[in-house]
Formats: sequence, C-alpha cells, structure tokens
Amino acid sequence: MRQDLCQLLGIRAPIIAGGMTLVSTPELVAAVSNAGGLGVFATGDKAQEGGPERVEAELRRLKTLTDQPFGVNIPIHSPVAGALVDIVCAEGATLVTTGAGNPAPYLPQLHAAGLKVAPVVPSPEIAAKMEAAGADLVIAEGMESGGFIGKITTLVLVPQVASAVTIPVVAAGGFADGRGLAAAFALGACGVQLGTRFMASRECQLPDVYKQAILAQRSADAIVEGAVLPGLLSHRSIRTPAAEAVIAYEHTPGATPEGFRELFDAARLEVTGHLDKAVLGMGQVAGLIHEELSCQDIIDTIMRECQEVLGDLAPLGAQ
Ligand SMILES: Cc1cc2nc3c(=O)[nH]c(=O)nc-3n(C[C@H](O)[C@H](O)[C@H](O)COP(=O)(O)O)c2cc1C
Repeated sequence: MRQDLCQLLGIRAPIIAGGMTLVSTPELVAAVSNAGGLGVFATGDKAQEGGPERVEAELRRLKTLTDQPFGVNIPIHSPVAGALVDIVCAEGATLVTTGAGNPAPYLPQLHAAGLKVAPVVPSPEIAAKMEAAGADLVIAEGMESGGFIGKITTLVLVPQVASAVTIPVVAAGGFADGRGLAAAFALGACGVQLGTRFMASRECQLPDVYKQAILAQRSADAIVEGAVLPGLLSHRSIRTPAAEAVIAYEHTPGATPEGFRELFDAARLEVTGHLDKAVLGMGQVAGLIHEELSCQDIIDTIMRECQEVLGDLAPLGAQ
C-alpha cells in the first residue's frame, strides 16, 4: 500500500462505489459516502436525459443527502463533457473519475477548483499517459468488471499499472469482499472500486428484478457484447434475452457495427423493470454476491474480512 486512499480522499474505508450509468443515483452515492466509502455519482445518463441542468439539480440534491466526501463520474466522450466539468467545479466534489476519453484538457480547470482526478485506465500504457498529463490517481479496471470493459484481467493489470506509475492506484473489476481488498493491497493498489456489489445493495434504486438477477446469476452469466465486430467497445452485462439477442446479432452474417449499436443502445437504456428487454452491466463478481445488503453492511463486512485475511497472512511474512 504505497499511499493511503483514506487520507487522500478524507474517507474512512478505502472503498469507492464506481459511478454507474443508470444506477448511481444521489441516494446510492450518499449511502456509500455516509457509510465511510466514497460514492461516485454518474452523469452520463442524466446529461442525456435532462441535459447538464439535470446533473446540476441532482448534484445539489446529493449534497442535501450527505456531508461526506463524494465523487462524480464524467464520460469524456459526452458532447456536454465541458458543461459537466463546469458544473462539478461550481458545485464541488472530492474526486472526479473519468472514462471514455482523455481528460487532459480538463485537468487544469478541475485542479484549479480543488478537485482530484482519477481516470479509469485499461492498460499500464494509458495509466502512464494519465500520470504524465497530471492525474492524481488512476483506477485500473480489469475486464471481469461490469459495464464497458478493456482486454486485461484485474489480476494481471493492477501490478503492471502499479509498476508503471508513481501516483496511487485503485483496483477495479471483480471485488466484493475482504479477500479481494487484501489481494488488491498485495497487488500494489491502495484501495478498490466496486460496481456490481453496490447494485445489489438496499439503497440502490434499481427495480428489484435486476438485483434478484445479480444474486441468482453466476460468474459465467456475466456475458459480453461488442466483442466480435470491429471498432466497438465491449460491454459486460447480466445474462438477459436482450443481451443474448445482441450477441446473436453480432454472429449473424452481414452484421454491421451500426446495426449492433442500434440494438445495443435501445436495450441499454431499458431499465424499466422488464429484465428480458434490458442490457444492464454486471461483472463476473456476481458469482460472489448472494445477498442484498445495506451499503454500511457491505463496507463494514469488507473491512472486517480484510483485517482477518491480513492477520491470517501475517505469519507468512514473518517466516
Ligand atoms: C451497470 C454499470 C454501469 C456502469 N457505468 C459506468 C459509467 O457510467 N462510467 C464508468 O466510468 N464506469 C461505469 N461502470 C464501471 C463501474 O464504475 C466499476 O468500475 C465496475 O463496475 C467495477 O467492476 P465490478 O462490477 O466487478 O465491481 C459501470 C458498471 C456497471 C455494472
């Protein structure tokens, strides 16, 4: 553990709930932050639905639900990324996490507003570029994670990123318990970012049918769309008829990236409680998640288990 994530972000447990499109509402973010972790608000979907004004209103609401540090996730490819940066700088936050593009042009403005910036990175090369651009920390996310994914597993990625940069590294993809947190420390990370585990939390406002799917499904059910046709980002999700139909389309002779995007985008925004119609992110870690818990219980359990694991391992270090 080269640097203390808790000290860096002013939190009590080195656990970030990653910003999740359609999932990370002010209620979920506040619950994680109030429980001692860092909740991260996702802006992508809100910006699409109601424009930057909706993001501003939701951020203001979030600030009425917690007085603890929280983060905001900004997808850099968003046509309104600049407006989102302006809003976050005006409203304030502790951390901005970024994905889908290079945040370098926005770093001076974010830093001037007192924000720390953590790009999500899929490779050691991109991690090194982000450090050179001025990022404060990086989130190394492996391909077992839910949502859009890279090509390298967490176990292989995190130590490479830890060797490639001198800034703190947070490990993401596949974490749900204290064994995982202890492993992340061993790999050179100073904390973990979780997504899927917090989807199956009491405070997550997703319709119950999605939470039940996460509890029931196994690791191999976390299927990947967008891995066949050229030029697409891969995405890992709950096994649903809609997700299987998208994958079946990709294998159809004559399938095109445009045809894929049309099917995928229509289903990805479908979280109205009809499981069969949805393509909704879920990581392989679903196989480790068997119970809906409060955010406080999730964080407390991870911390307790991690202490136990580190205690059990201590004699090995003394040999
Ligand atoms: C449903 C869903 C939506 C997500 N949306 C985003 C997003 O908008 N921006 C982002 O940077 N990461 C997003 N992620 C990734 C998470 O923030 C987190 O890094 C990832 O879920 C960690 O892997 P895990 O699911 O194995 O815990 C999403 C993940 C899921 C499951």
